Amino acid sequence: MKKIIKGFYRVYQFIMSLAVPLLPWKDTKLLSSPGSIANVPNILKKEGVHTLFVATTKGTLKRGYLNGILDELQGMGIHYHIFSSITPDPTISSIEEGVAEYNSHNCNGILAVGGGSVIDCSKVIGARAVKPNMSVSDMKGILKIRKKLPTFIAVPTTAGTGSECTLAAVITDEKTHYKYPINDPCLLPDYAILDGELTKDLPPHLTAQTGMDAMTHSTEAYINKFSSKESKSFAIKSLTLIHSNLLKAYNNGQDIEARQNMLEASFYAGKAFTKAYVGYVHAIGHAIGGIYGMPHGLTMAILLPKVLRKYDTKAEKSLSEIAIALGESPSLSTKELSQRFIALIENYNRAMVIPENITSLSKSDYGEIARRALKEANPLYPVPEIWSEKEIFEVLDEVI
Ligand SMILES: [Fe+2]
Repeated sequence: MKKIIKGFYRVYQFIMSLAVPLLPWKDTKLLSSPGSIANVPNILKKEGVHTLFVATTKGTLKRGYLNGILDELQGMGIHYHIFSSITPDPTISSIEEGVAEYNSHNCNGILAVGGGSVIDCSKVIGARAVKPNMSVSDMKGILKIRKKLPTFIAVPTTAGTGSECTLAAVITDEKTHYKYPINDPCLLPDYAILDGELTKDLPPHLTAQTGMDAMTHSTEAYINKFSSKESKSFAIKSLTLIHSNLLKAYNNGQDIEARQNMLEASFYAGKAFTKAYVGYVHAIGHAIGGIYGMPHGLTMAILLPKVLRKYDTKAEKSLSEIAIALGESPSLSTKELSQRFIALIENYNRAMVIPENITSLSKSDYGEIARRALKEANPLYPVPEIWSEKEIFEVLDEVI
């Protein structure tokens, strides 16, 4: 890539880093403790919600996580309508179905209880409810919505996406298999409720994949250029929690303390990347996920060490700082420290039986993957090194 284009990208990213703190951020109110979902009825009462749109999955309903609060709502005279047909990787048709039900039941508040797909889908349902004349595809990009959503409570049942505290929603266009983010501070939930009791039934492979997604959020946010002190401190807080709790949660799902800490890790990872962005792991991963239908966390786990190795010296210093924060000796060289952090990620993958390669990946798709990844990342993501098709192909060669 020509130096002048890279220079333009860096100027754009620098200007964005100055502009981002000026956006109309709102502080998502955090409630974090086992059993904290019980606070929902009181929040709704305080916010004046008369009819609640409950977005969730059939599995969450079946496990009875919502029984207590739904009974209480009935007693309080708050109506609710349950929407449980959200698919993984939320599609435009799922959003349209949801917004039609939201409107037909005259809802004025949203409770999203589920993984990133449920929370992301609900965000865009809320956006469509307040912007009825704007299509989902018109919301693609940054700052397209600019209108307050209905009262929004996010309750994650996986510890990974951080969607409960980010301004982003990732949507899949089912016709083109294109995954794209919608970014707007309006999409920040009003409340995030982290309740470890709701994640204890998550199977080990999903604990692993979602946990590695959170690790990717924190790592990419930390190593990005122009990442603020605040974002870096959220990233380190998250990585420290992941390092102490991910394997515990993976090995014993009923370990409520580890589950609660992983939810907090995911939350702080979200706080880190919502202002500092992610990078090529996500850009390439979204492209692969869109084309092959692979779970997001799995693509993150596989791609993270490969992309970090490819950055080489460009990310060495930041990675060495992370390694020290996780307990490595500061007396080691920067190179050694950064290698140790990458090796740590690989060890996590091995310990949680995450493969090193994507066997379904086909060389014939390299061009399309690179095209989509570069379109997502450049110039928006302030990655340690700006890549072109060549570097994306080299990473894919390591993954195939
Ligand atoms: Fe992610």
